[in-house]
Amino acid sequence: MPDGLPTEIDLTRPSAARVYDYFLGGAHNFEIDRQLAEQIASMTPNLAATMRSGREFLRRAVRVLLEAGIDQFLDIGSGIPTVGNVHEVAQGVNPKARVVYVDIDPVAVAHSRELLAGNELTGVIHADLREPEKILAETRQLGLIDFSRPVGILLAGVVHFIPDGDRPEEILASLRAAAAPGSFLVVSHSTFEDQPQEMLDAQRLSARTATEITLRSRAQVTGFFGDWTVLEPGVVHMPLWRPDSPSDVDDHPERFGAFGGAARYDQPAG
Ligand SMILES: C[S@@+](CC[C@H](N)C(=O)[O-])C[C@H]1O[C@@H](n2cnc3c(N)ncnc32)[C@H](O)[C@@H]1O
Repeated sequence: MPDGLPTEIDLTRPSAARVYDYFLGGAHNFEIDRQLAEQIASMTPNLAATMRSGREFLRRAVRVLLEAGIDQFLDIGSGIPTVGNVHEVAQGVNPKARVVYVDIDPVAVAHSRELLAGNELTGVIHADLREPEKILAETRQLGLIDFSRPVGILLAGVVHFIPDGDRPEEILASLRAAAAPGSFLVVSHSTFEDQPQEMLDAQRLSARTATEITLRSRAQVTGFFGDWTVLEPGVVHMPLWRPDSPSDVDDHPERFGAFGGAARYDQPAG
């Protein structure tokens, strides 16, 4: 691990961001994270592939938004931005693209700041998705994202960390309300639909990290887009969402255990 880690890091518990980093092939994880990752992997062999599939979905979605002219992104639950992440994809297409990363995990935030030092069109915020107004206020303070213009709001693999009791639909509504017409929202979310027992087992194990996963139905995930226009092909198992090539789609796309979708805020008529 590099120097400069914040002192508030709890090394006695695994961290979701570091377990995820391990599954993606990153180096920003501790023994305690690797132990949990290996245990999860032995019980749920699809999970590492699911996480990679999630990153690939996010990259495809970012490219679709870039093609639609989006040049500023708010990525909440961004994780540790190694292994081909949003600003690399976005700035590879549009060098002026701006990206603000938000994560609850101090390790993810520390690494993000380190990796992004010197990239003036990116910013990093340490915040909880359950406090959307705080995220919006801090994002405005950074001065990178102009909410009077269309923005891409990315919630990849994070809303399932919000239990029903924390009212995720209201959180999503607050974020949508801050966005200008022409904005996009991207969501990927674990589901129990079409899932074998292993997803349910993974959910049980996730209770050991600081944040437990809530699996949701297609209808619930679709509801997170509110009245925005859901893009084709709708809310589908992630590999089915605009694959680069039909051959990229697994015979059983449902085995990755998560839905992906994107929606656009169309100017209300009248
Ligand atoms: C599975 S990773 C997804 C990373 C990235 N978005 C991707 O798709 O590749 C989930 C991330 O969400 C973060 N997270 C979990 N709960 C959160 C919350 N309430 N607010 C902000 N971030 C959260 C975790 O720390 C972790 O980094």
